Amino acid sequence: MINHALQSHILTVSDEATWQRVVRRAGIEDAVFHSMTQYPDAVTYKLVGAASEELGVSAAAFLRGFGRHWVLVTAPGHYGALMTFAGTSFAEFLSNLDRMHDRVATMFHNLQQPSFEVEELGPAHLKLHYRSHRAGLAPFVEGLIDGLGERFGVRVEVTHGREGADSDEHDVFSIRYGAP
Ligand code: HEM
Repeated sequence: MINHALQSHILTVSDEATWQRVVRRAGIEDAVFHSMTQYPDAVTYKLVGAASEELGVSAAAFLRGFGRHWVLVTAPGHYGALMTFAGTSFAEFLSNLDRMHDRVATMFHNLQQPSFEVEELGPAHLKLHYRSHRAGLAPFVEGLIDGLGERFGVRVEVTHGREGADSDEHDVFSIRYGAP
């Protein structure tokens, strides 16, 4: 699903020839991805690296744009009902992310789902804690937050940091949001 979405994102910001070059550069043999098949994470990381080189942007910038595409195009297109039930406002949606992925876990096997926790800091100001089994995806989450702001018509300002000590160390996003 993620590799399929990545292909869709590249076709949106560029073209088929670029996608073919990305696949070749990533050294992937069979570039037809099926949404319900599971692929090793390494395939996705290789595609991200190759895409950032082909498009001439940093991996972080690529992941951020891809996160936005995921929320605005992929998820509503393939999982519209899950998106609708996850909330009717920006803040409500963020606080339901774990419940949403719990539902997703009933559809996919071996899900290594992330964990999100919302801490209210004040009116229109919150902290989102993100814990994951995977490394390097904070820029993807920033793009997801950008996309959710657009989905709900609010302007968002995101600041990324790390918190916690040793094994509890995790990413945190301070998010101010409000009228567009
Ligand atoms: C209905 C829409 C969505 C579906 C079907 C979905 C599904 C999934 C699936 C299948 C995974 C992979 C788990 C695995 O097997 O390892 C995943 C991971 C993830 N999802 Fe979603 N998701 C959706 C929406 C969102 C939204 C709106 C966010 C916004 C924050 C989000 C954030 C993430 C992140 C950051 C990861 C994980 C990478 C990691 O840290 O391991 N997802 N999601």
